[in-house]
Amino acid sequence: MQVFLNDKLVPESDARVSVLDRGFLYGDSVFETLRAYGGVPFMLSTHLRRLARSADALGIHIPISIDELRSAVMSTLEANSLKSAYLRVMVSRGVGPPGFDPTADTTPTLVVLARELSPYPDEMYTDGVKLIVSPVRRNHPQALDPSIKSGNFLNNILAKADASRAGAYDSVMLSIEGFVAECTSSNIFFARDGVLHTPSTGVGILDGITRGTIIAQAHKLNIQVREGKFALRALMEAEEVFLTNTTMEVMPVRAVDDRTFRPGPQAKRLREAYQALVHHAS
Ligand code: PDD
Repeated sequence: MQVFLNDKLVPESDARVSVLDRGFLYGDSVFETLRAYGGVPFMLSTHLRRLARSADALGIHIPISIDELRSAVMSTLEANSLKSAYLRVMVSRGVGPPGFDPTADTTPTLVVLARELSPYPDEMYTDGVKLIVSPVRRNHPQALDPSIKSGNFLNNILAKADASRAGAYDSVMLSIEGFVAECTSSNIFFARDGVLHTPSTGVGILDGITRGTIIAQAHKLNIQVREGKFALRALMEAEEVFLTNTTMEVMPVRAVDDRTFRPGPQAKRLREAYQALVHHAS
């Protein structure tokens, strides 16, 4: 595998980052996950803009311009001869003097990884995935704002571990106030009386790029969308539930704790609309 490291492509065995890198020491980094279809990364500019916003929010300097970053992503895909790919772009604050003062002089580290996308099994889309509600809450925006896609993912990792221990695919995470927020690496939607509901960004979530695309597609399909603060009870009373993210697109949910759902028509229609969009873009 060829990896883009800082300013050039290198073989994976030479793609080394210092043990003093703050990404490793403190999770002091930002990242984006993208999916390429037919050799074309879907919504590349939107992802790079979010990377820049995350980096800005943390005061991390991206060492190359957004145009150069776009070329780096494309050359990493090409160097690995990939068409259908999982891509990850990471920027850490890099190596600096001892201590964690972020205003100290540091040299940022940039990494672009590309590998063959391992597709999700078809049964997941036909049967839906099982979720639990984790006792681990999503970060409060005044602690670590979930709109920043940072490398510090520990509360999501703890919630994912809860799901694995319970034999579930993932966990629903609530906000500190107890509103439905999101899952550990996806946004959540539910349908009630034909109206699509999804937590608003004000709840403290990652403003998912797939989420935004699905909301736009729903509008086009004349499906009403309500963004807001929803109690867990509202989710449990839904007719159907689904998740969205870049790699899984639209994934139906078959259970949240003991409440079961049928993979429903909204998820199906929206996944089809999403795939049509992807097809058009690639
Ligand atoms: N996860 N919420 C969280 C906490 C996420 O980590 C992600 C993305 C999403 C969905 O965002 P998007 O639609 O822009 O992919 C929501 C990626 C896939 C990851 O963790 O690699």
